[in-house]
Amino acid sequence: MKIMVPATTTNLGAGFDVFGLALDLFNEVFFSFDTDKTFIESTGKYAPDLESYDLFFEVFEFFEKKTGYRVPPVKIRQVCNIPVSSGLGSSAAVIVSALYIANVGTKANLSQRDLMKLAVELEGHPDNVVPAFVGGLVVCYQDGDVFDFERFELDFELTFLVPNFSLCTNNMRRVLPKEVSFEDAVFNIKNSCQFLAKIASGKLDDAFKYVEDRLHQSYRINQYEEMKEFVRAVVSKKPSYWFVSGSGPSICTDVKDVEGIPYLRDVLRLKVNNRGLIISK
Ligand code: HSE
Repeated sequence: MKIMVPATTTNLGAGFDVFGLALDLFNEVFFSFDTDKTFIESTGKYAPDLESYDLFFEVFEFFEKKTGYRVPPVKIRQVCNIPVSSGLGSSAAVIVSALYIANVGTKANLSQRDLMKLAVELEGHPDNVVPAFVGGLVVCYQDGDVFDFERFELDFELTFLVPNFSLCTNNMRRVLPKEVSFEDAVFNIKNSCQFLAKIASGKLDDAFKYVEDRLHQSYRINQYEEMKEFVRAVVSKKPSYWFVSGSGPSICTDVKDVEGIPYLRDVLRLKVNNRGLIISK
């Protein structure tokens, strides 16, 4: 069997842990159960950047603990087209693939919504895994056990500047402040609501005027000298907007001229993917 799991960008500036967007770039994952030992291999452009397959095994263990089913031995080959630890949902793609594989292998027959709930619990925030399942722009809600979302199908393209260094989401969450000022909280509410209102009214170009953030980006950027230099160079090009994709380090921006931006590895122009997880038997 083969599944294709999309890359995702999240936060879209002000919508921290709430906005997630699926992109037209996929990890392809082939799997079969005709084996007596689990074996995972990776190919594709970003395969050399993968440090381990631990996350696949963590997901299988989590699935077993939650459902009581035992995941049978499985052969997996993933084609890594999503840059690893770059803020484009590479870990979410592994979580979604592994949960899907576990559900098929165990014949547990969980619904997509149940799989999503497991994925959210595992990842700790919903904004990558939910769009990876359902596609489109997703407005996620999670509060303890309460989980909900709404999605919008959209047709536009975004540009991502991917640097040649990576950042780990767990570390990037640890550097966030425990408290923020009332003013900064209101700033993000205004921006995220206006962003969404423009999207809902079909004014896509106007939506991206409202991606400025005061809750997470500066805390993260200032942790790393390379990230500071990278962002500074992007900002010096005077883009009409920019934001950190997920917890970074990739930047989404409308900058056209990327000449002289330090650490730049790839420029990815990606359309919104409205399909989410694609299953081909
Ligand atoms: N909303 C999450 C964060 C996304 O910013 O930490 C991580 O990819």
